[in-house]
Amino acid sequence: MKTSHAVKTMLALGVALGIATAGRGDESAEAALKAQLPKIFAKAAAHYRALDAAATPLMHDANQRGGLGVPHGWDAKTGKLDMRDIFWWTTGHFPGSLWYLYEATGDAFFKDRALAWTEILAPNSKVTDNHDVGFIMYCSFGNARRILGTDRYDALLLEAAASLAQRFDKGLGLIRSWGEISDKKDFLVIPDNMMNLELLEWAANAPGGDRRFDAIARSHADVTMRHHFRPDGGTFHVLNYDQRTHRVQEIRRGQGASCETAWSRGQSWAIYGYTMMFRATRDRRYLDFARKVADFAISHPAMPADGVPYWDFGAPGEERDSSAAAIMASGLLELSGFTSGEESAKYRAFAVRQLASLASPAYFSEGGEAGHWLLKHGVGYKPAGSEVDTPLDYGDYYFLEALLRLSKM
Ligand code: GLY
Repeated sequence: MKTSHAVKTMLALGVALGIATAGRGDESAEAALKAQLPKIFAKAAAHYRALDAAATPLMHDANQRGGLGVPHGWDAKTGKLDMRDIFWWTTGHFPGSLWYLYEATGDAFFKDRALAWTEILAPNSKVTDNHDVGFIMYCSFGNARRILGTDRYDALLLEAAASLAQRFDKGLGLIRSWGEISDKKDFLVIPDNMMNLELLEWAANAPGGDRRFDAIARSHADVTMRHHFRPDGGTFHVLNYDQRTHRVQEIRRGQGASCETAWSRGQSWAIYGYTMMFRATRDRRYLDFARKVADFAISHPAMPADGVPYWDFGAPGEERDSSAAAIMASGLLELSGFTSGEESAKYRAFAVRQLASLASPAYFSEGGEAGHWLLKHGVGYKPAGSEVDTPLDYGDYYFLEALLRLSKM
């Protein structure tokens, strides 16, 4: 049966107003998506087998920094796989997706390939010139550790946490996202940095770990909560702190459309990051804040009915960002487990709506149409004209993660 225009409009209005529409419809939407999961994982597995086959001959590349490359994206014009050196911020996501596919399918092929792509990332544990060590190491080695039930990567992960902690400034109480540690003029922080705290929280509790990592993560989350969001819960992208006065000296639009709008993926990082911080610390302030930043997104008038946001909440009608939807869906599913009643159902139903959209032909690629990456229509860095309407490795990673989370609920 076709959905009438009036029903579509009402659904869109419900989303726009953030109305909790938990009920039979949501349950059947979730049941329908769950019934599709084996097919979705089988299709994803076929895509990643093809990606791995295309990327493996390119792994050893003397032209790459470190002499090794990892697949990151795809160039629609040339049809070529976009390989990045092992220090690029997203390199944990491709092996991470292989780990998730191993978890989803039990197929040893994915374990072997995940291991191969994970282990080449080891030199990142010593990196101190940016904050992405958390993303890189935890999505790869962190998943390896969890899924294999091994402690053989613990020393490496602890070293990575110590490297990230070197970017913490005690006076500001923040980890510097971008820039050299020695830079006295600028101290740049982005909400994406919330994601790197998961490595620190793991390291605070790991055998041989150090509680100071927890103190650093909490401090960063607290100061970010204080300055990085507008009263309505929308995020700025880049804040530049003055290291002498500890005040914000500059707001930059960064990857967003403007200093006055909220960049969708930044909002998703915040939803996911504060939910994760609640999981790690059980500090209710983080849960309350996760709810606030989530409500901003799911109730936003510019949120489309299918739950896949435009690349910036201030850019309705422009490109969607499937990666922002995937990250948000994964975060919302976890958030639904920490809330109750109608509220929990609201987050869960929204995530299911997003995942059902992403799993539809509108976003989930067929065959090689997106170079075998899963999700079409991601936006990397639109103001720089970079990676607009394209597959993104991290979109796939959080899509698979969210589907796995759903499968366990
Ligand atoms: N800066 C990381 C991102 O593009 O989300």
